[in-house]
Amino acid sequence: MWSRWLALHGIPRAFLAVTARAGDPMAGLLATHGRGDDPYPFMEEIRARGPLLHKRFAWSTVDHGVCRDILRDRRFGITDPTQLGLPAPLRAVIARTDPGLANPVEPPAMVVVDPPDHTRYRQSVSQSFTPRAIDRLGTRVTEVTATLIDRLADASRPDLIADFAARLPMEIIAEILDLPADSHRDLLEWGHCGSPLLDIGIPWRTYRDAIDGLRGADRTLQERFHRARAGEASDNPFTRLAADNTLTAREFTANAALLIGAGFETTVNLIGNGIVLLLQHPDQLARLRDEPDLWPNAVEEILRIDSPVQMTARTPSCDVDVAGQHIAAGDTVALFLGGANRDPQVFAEPARFDITRSNARDHLAFGSGVHACLGAALARIEGVTALRALFEAFPDLHLTAAPHRRGLVNLRGFAALPAQLGTRRAVPA
Ligand code: HEM
Repeated sequence: MWSRWLALHGIPRAFLAVTARAGDPMAGLLATHGRGDDPYPFMEEIRARGPLLHKRFAWSTVDHGVCRDILRDRRFGITDPTQLGLPAPLRAVIARTDPGLANPVEPPAMVVVDPPDHTRYRQSVSQSFTPRAIDRLGTRVTEVTATLIDRLADASRPDLIADFAARLPMEIIAEILDLPADSHRDLLEWGHCGSPLLDIGIPWRTYRDAIDGLRGADRTLQERFHRARAGEASDNPFTRLAADNTLTAREFTANAALLIGAGFETTVNLIGNGIVLLLQHPDQLARLRDEPDLWPNAVEEILRIDSPVQMTARTPSCDVDVAGQHIAAGDTVALFLGGANRDPQVFAEPARFDITRSNARDHLAFGSGVHACLGAALARIEGVTALRALFEAFPDLHLTAAPHRRGLVNLRGFAALPAQLGTRRAVPA
């Protein structure tokens, strides 16, 4: 495992540190593990150097138009993190040391697979996200939120991340994957351990803990798959997917692990970032109290100004000219969605939090193109339901300590939000 870490993270980590010191803003941003409090100054530095910045390591962009066009351009495919412009000997080490676990950021998880396999995985998993399925999940979101609010009211020292923001998406993912209630603690653990895998150059211990977490997830998901194959009856679309021979065991477990990572570790940050932004802007919160119809747009603005997923990457299969630059086949292009969502050419005064912003929904927080977020509709429902219920139930809510970030680069959120809730207000049914 150590040699795999060295090839995937250890050597890139040393390289990033050197290039960051030499003044490369992209390397500076990626090398801020554990200190990722404010990525935006790095992104503004990238913006100041033009729509596409080229360094030895990769291209990078925070330009909204360039990010959107690349995400929608079929000449650009996924960037496989196990290939990532690494020299051949390192790629050989990575190939030899594959532990074969359900890893949400390595193939065959659909987010790192190109068509035609991508199309097959996405169509299969989409059965859990049809409008009818989303309607049913929406009802569950309301029920689970109400239970969590009741539990919060009884807690003496609630942490709004652990006791609220993390619990809702976790229960909903368990529902989608047809996992029993006693798996909830494991889901939290896997999500937490696995999320640093979206960063580049993570420390050895973090990597080791992430892989240990994946081992647990892999075991449970394999069992799930084989029980369904053995004929376990269920009307859950995800279980039926295992039963009907559409996917192999590895395809099934990798895409289930992706749903855990993509559905849980992102939505917890949407809710947590929203709580902090609204507490920092009491005028906007007051407006939401008077005009609750503004909640959906407020959630779009939260997604825009503090995007839970800060970046993705793409690699062209042929030479491509973009924004006056020539990108060679096989190059890596880092797309900083968090920066694109603050592009002043698209969003006036982009650093201002404004829940009435008319084009807030033009953000790229859910990506775009063939890999656009499969759970966007669900995430929006979760964000609106959770934030509205929390602030309506506890109008005097305030934090009892300064919030601190999780210290990840790609997934942007808070580690804990200790709070005092104040008196609970009865919310009319
Ligand atoms: C605020 C919450 C969320 C955010 C910000 C978010 C963001 C994203 C982004 C940016 C991508 C595209 C990645 C890329 O192009 O490389 C993506 C893909 C994906 N998301 Fe989400 N996501 C959220 C919630 C969810 C939820 C709730 C689910 C499911 C339960 C989900 C499932 C997926 C899946 C399966 C993909 C891969 C789609 C594909 O490759 O075709 N996401 N998400």
